[in-house]
Amino acid sequence: MCEQWHVSLRDIRAVYDPEMHIAMLQDSSRHHFYAKCLLKHQEDLKDKVAVDVGAGIGIMSAMALVHGKLGQVHAVEVLPEVARIIPKVLESILDAEDRGKVRVHCGFVEKLCSVPGWPGDAVALVVSEWLGILALNEGMAQPLLRCRDALCHGPARPQMLPGWLRLWVQPGQASVQRGAGGDVTCGPRVITSEQLQGSPTLLLDLDLNTCSVSDLFESQGIDVESAGGATGLVGWFDLHCCKDHPDVVLSTSPSAPKTHWLQCWMPFDKALEGSTKLHVQVQLKPQNLAGLPELCVVLSDLSGEDHHAQFFLDRGVVEYGKVRAEARESEPKRRRLETEDIEAIYFPSDVQELLRLAQQAVKEGAGPELA
Ligand SMILES: C[S@@+](CC[C@H](N)C(=O)[O-])C[C@H]1O[C@@H](n2cnc3c(N)ncnc32)[C@H](O)[C@@H]1O
Repeated sequence: MCEQWHVSLRDIRAVYDPEMHIAMLQDSSRHHFYAKCLLKHQEDLKDKVAVDVGAGIGIMSAMALVHGKLGQVHAVEVLPEVARIIPKVLESILDAEDRGKVRVHCGFVEKLCSVPGWPGDAVALVVSEWLGILALNEGMAQPLLRCRDALCHGPARPQMLPGWLRLWVQPGQASVQRGAGGDVTCGPRVITSEQLQGSPTLLLDLDLNTCSVSDLFESQGIDVESAGGATGLVGWFDLHCCKDHPDVVLSTSPSAPKTHWLQCWMPFDKALEGSTKLHVQVQLKPQNLAGLPELCVVLSDLSGEDHHAQFFLDRGVVEYGKVRAEARESEPKRRRLETEDIEAIYFPSDVQELLRLAQQAVKEGAGPELA
């Protein structure tokens, strides 16, 4: 992806700052889910080798050793200032023997895995927490799948954890929110189940062990029927351990416990007056000013009304009206920012807080029902 989209460390830093890492580590539903996934696969994975894609401060690597009993973990993190925290986290959680089982690689995973033979071991597990707004934003899906494919040797394929992703949409009612310039915004927001209308429709159903990048972003889309009164679409995702353990699930739906992802709100230009048929599709779009591609949900009105819209979920921007083919063709080319990449500063207090949260996450493990 870094070659294809010209992603720089600066682009990644714009998403993953110290506050973002703290928010992720405060999300106990996330850690319970990953611990349960690892426990379910412990028997097959014991003493084998894992790659942790986008390791951050190393929480999933530590969990892979504690809950999955892996024999070795290659922790891959692109930001040097974040990768440098990994040994401190491991020291605060693992004994010396387990610490010796983690090897930290600092770099773009898609570059590392393109080196023939990397990482030098047969990999049995790819564990990764790579999910952004409506799962697919943040541009990590392609590097993840590229890494998976590079680690497949004949019939030997690494197990992906999590292994199954489902995206849902449902009409709903919520107030309009506007940005500083007065424009309507879209993106993460708390939506309750009382605000939903009708029933959910499956937007994407992806077995991460077998799907391709085009399955993610070039899907045909789906039709959604909405009754009058709806003011927008609500999107969310459910992550399942794998097809063999579908009941181990992390849901970000309005009826599930709150996670740091919240739900995704995509407002119509005006409330629907009567029953309306909409077409919804996810696309990956290049951004003009930064290298990371942006998830865009494209809404077309099939009922002859004019509820067409594009929701750019990274920037929270909504564009109403039909997408014109000529507009698509004349979209300005990406312009790479040539400014210097400057490391983000993790103050000692940030690092202390991250260490405390990481210890707590691993200690809580799969949660009360499996502890
Ligand atoms: C969603 S965060 C998850 C961090 C950590 N695994 C956790 O669960 O707390 C994703 C991490 O992946 C890193 N990352 C993003 N793109 C990457 C890439 N192409 N190669 C390697 N690391 C990447 C980011 O810097 C970030 O730390």
